[in-house]
Amino acid sequence: MAKAPPELNRPTTRTQKAKHPTKMSPLPFYSPKLSIFLLAICVALFTLYQIQSLHSPPSSPPWSLNMHQYWQRVTNCTSEDLQSMARKLQLSVTFLPLKDLRYTDKALEGHTWFMSSMFDSHEEGGEQYQQFPSGSSQGRLLCLKGKDTHDGSWNSYALSWPEALPFNATLMKGLTFVSYNHYNYENIWHGLSAIVPFVSWHKRNACESPSRWVLFHWGELRFKMGSWLNNITEATFGGKQNIETFEGVSNDQPVCFEKAVVMRHNEGGMSRDNRTETYDLMRCKARMYCNLSLVYEHKLQVIGLTLFMRTGPRSFKNESAVIRIFEKECAKVDGCRLMVAYSNNLTFCEQVELMSLTDILVSPHGAQLTNMFLLDRNSSVMEFFPKGWLKLAGVGQYVFHWIASWSGMRHQGAWRDPDGDPCPYPDDDRRCMSIYKHGKIGFNETYFSDWARSVLHEVKARKLVEASNKSSALTPSCACS
Ligand SMILES: *[C@@H]1O[C@H](CO)[C@@H](O)[C@H](O)[C@H]1NC(C)=O
Ligand SMILES: *[C@@H]1O[C@H](CO)[C@@H](O)[C@H](O)[C@H]1NC(C)=O
Ligand SMILES: *[C@@H]1O[C@H](CO)[C@@H](O)[C@H](O)[C@H]1NC(C)=O
Ligand SMILES: *[C@@H]1O[C@H](CO)[C@@H](O)[C@H](O)[C@H]1NC(C)=O
Ligand SMILES: *[C@@H]1O[C@H](CO)[C@@H](O)[C@H](O)[C@H]1NC(C)=O
Ligand SMILES: *[C@@H]1O[C@H](CO)[C@@H](O)[C@H](O)[C@H]1NC(C)=O
Ligand SMILES: *[C@@H]1O[C@H](CO)[C@@H](O)[C@H](O)[C@H]1NC(C)=O
Ligand SMILES: *[C@@H]1O[C@H](CO)[C@@H](O)[C@H](O)[C@H]1NC(C)=O
Ligand SMILES: *[C@@H]1O[C@H](CO)[C@@H](O)[C@H](O)[C@H]1NC(C)=O
Ligand SMILES: *[C@@H]1O[C@H](CO)[C@@H](O)[C@H](O)[C@H]1NC(C)=O
Repeated sequence: MAKAPPELNRPTTRTQKAKHPTKMSPLPFYSPKLSIFLLAICVALFTLYQIQSLHSPPSSPPWSLNMHQYWQRVTNCTSEDLQSMARKLQLSVTFLPLKDLRYTDKALEGHTWFMSSMFDSHEEGGEQYQQFPSGSSQGRLLCLKGKDTHDGSWNSYALSWPEALPFNATLMKGLTFVSYNHYNYENIWHGLSAIVPFVSWHKRNACESPSRWVLFHWGELRFKMGSWLNNITEATFGGKQNIETFEGVSNDQPVCFEKAVVMRHNEGGMSRDNRTETYDLMRCKARMYCNLSLVYEHKLQVIGLTLFMRTGPRSFKNESAVIRIFEKECAKVDGCRLMVAYSNNLTFCEQVELMSLTDILVSPHGAQLTNMFLLDRNSSVMEFFPKGWLKLAGVGQYVFHWIASWSGMRHQGAWRDPDGDPCPYPDDDRRCMSIYKHGKIGFNETYFSDWARSVLHEVKARKLVEASNKSSALTPSCACS
């Protein structure tokens, strides 16, 4: 008896032990549909199990597990079985809150607090994303439930096999982009950051464009983008974009997506080269969308110097003085052309056109500087800050250094106004930021002149080299077109 395996196929043991399994087994191991042969195997294995349990502490888990798996393999499923199994799968789809409050203090790290049970796919240098269905989702689709626009913990997500979607689910066909934005879709910097990884994915995946977007902020649904962001998204993905509003879907009705791509880390993880190529694509598409020519023949002979003004907070206190200083320096350089524009009243295409004619962008710190990726590669940016920002504004004040580096521009430094509105507290007291935040920017004629002169000379020298080297005339076509 101790050497059980040889007995497995011996019919004699069957009758002898036939009653034991029902008594001994804690698992639902038998069914009327079992063929005699399978029953024999079962019985023999149970005998084995029984012997084993005499020698070791009762109910050894590995054995029961193996038995269970074995059982599943030999069962001949009827279509009723399959239906019942599919029903169980359907019932087992579990929705979890989109915003996981346990990770409030690490909302942006790792798996973040948005769909916190899921991990991203990430190839070295590429964007961090999740794709459904995929190998890592075991072929399951992404399903969402809830339409809350105020508290993301009331919206939920689940994974489900396409054969066993949750009850009453709506299946949405085509590709869905699900975007997580920690800030908002109105500000052009934060909005663009959320879009960039999708552009990168699009470029790497045969330029596939989405059938719809699902926008989230802290797990709360958002139904629109700011106008500038809407325009650049339309330009990049080829036409009007559909932002899902889940009209006609009730709050507790699941929606599953045939194919979904989820981004929650902006450009995080992308290499500089991959970012630069992504911005190249957006620049090129924006120019096409606005019916601009992709290559300007005369550009090598001209240096476009643009003062891109703001109104209100962080505008120049004395604009005419600033304009005059740059005018003077521009006049000294052959081919230099000065332009003055206001970011508040240019349409999207006017901004795209202005940037395509600019080599040196002169502008105060502010969202309008996000437009710099629309400049030709290797263009220059000069940035201006009001008093107090260096000490108090935190790391966010460097975003335009970053986007310059990512999109292949030269950030030529920043001027920080030493003067500004007085603050009743010490200079590095956080309370002063509320005063400095909306401060205006003065000027230093000596500094501005020297700075403008040196940037102009650098640009001039680079253009001369490029002009002598006709090879830089690239073919006028975008990736993905
Ligand atoms: C499995 O079931 C089908 C139909 O019910 C039957 O034709 C087939 O012979 C069964 N196979 C085994 C190995 O029992
Ligand atoms: C760009 O990303 C892809 C993956 O998406 C990666 O294979 C490639 O190495 C990256 N390129 C660079 C230059 O990092
Ligand atoms: C599905 O919808 C029907 C009709 O709206 C409803 O009666 C039923 O309870 C729903 N089933 C589930 C599981 O929500
Ligand atoms: C940009 O978007 C706005 C609002 O979304 C729209 O009214 C405008 O026509 C768009 N501009 C272009 C050039 O398509
Ligand atoms: C670009 O040209 C096309 C065709 O002439 C026109 O339909 C479209 O409105 C133009 N787009 C813009 C932004 O002017
Ligand atoms: C602006 O600066 C110029 C030159 O320094 C000066 O003449 C002018 O009065 C200033 N304007 C204002 C409004 O301060
Ligand atoms: C744009 O705005 C600026 C500042 O508000 C104003 O001076 C200028 O006249 C405006 N331009 C147009 C074309 O409306
Ligand atoms: C930008 O400048 C670098 C270094 O001078 C040069 O290698 C590169 O070709 C330039 N890129 C473009 C698009 O002009
Ligand atoms: C203006 O800039 C120059 C050159 O950087 C500097 O020497 C001078 O002290 C500055 N003037 C003021 C008033 O800050
Ligand atoms: C100019 O051409 C040479 C040789 O063709 C090349 O090595 C160099 O990178 C080019 N420089 C620029 C700025 O395009």
